[in-house]
Amino acid sequence: MFSQAVVGGIWLAMLGISSTIPATLAQDSSNVTCMSSFYWANNDMGQNPCIVASYLDTQCPPTGFTIEPVSAGIPYEPPAGALANACECNTVLYSLMSACAACQGATHLSWASWTQACNETSSSLPMGIPPGTAVPAWAFIGIDAGGTWNETAALLNAC
Ligand SMILES: *[C@@H]1O[C@H](CO)[C@@H](O)[C@H](O)[C@H]1NC(C)=O
Ligand SMILES: *[C@@H]1O[C@H](CO)[C@@H](O)[C@H](O)[C@H]1NC(C)=O
Ligand SMILES: *[C@@H]1O[C@H](CO)[C@@H](O)[C@H](O)[C@H]1NC(C)=O
Repeated sequence: MFSQAVVGGIWLAMLGISSTIPATLAQDSSNVTCMSSFYWANNDMGQNPCIVASYLDTQCPPTGFTIEPVSAGIPYEPPAGALANACECNTVLYSLMSACAACQGATHLSWASWTQACNETSSSLPMGIPPGTAVPAWAFIGIDAGGTWNETAALLNAC
């Protein structure tokens, strides 16, 4: 816990993040409302990327996240400490969290910054997809040549 707090503190200071995705004991969920222009990013169940990410997080020990809204121009804090493993550090969840930020007018980190504390990374979804959700196709296309989530490419791969 101590090292997790230290790592989190460093990133808070470096990036000026004022809002995070805190680990809680509550049921994983998201109350983020996406802008209507991001309708394309919803899955075929009508769930926005923040809600889909919160379902995937239920599989990540210790408890996953409650994904709260962020302010415009602010990225979500990357995985740290006990959560910095492949369950969180994969391009699918990274893409969903990037879209979750974008759909609020917020910014997203590069893949390198997102995985800075990760002990391993994955370009697939190591834990699979839990019941109650579906992962849209655009979340599986990976990072772009610039090393980040590409909103244009995601939109082109939305169906
Ligand atoms: C989302 O939930 C958090 C607490 O869980 C609350 O502080 C926040 O105001 C809520 N936001 C919205 C948009 O409902
Ligand atoms: C990364 O950490 C997780 C626990 O958080 C562990 O299960 C996994 O084996 C670790 N991976 C590596 C490559 O050390
Ligand atoms: C982002 O995606 C678009 C559409 O596929 C592509 O034209 C563009 O080159 C991509 N950007 C980078 C930096 O790869």
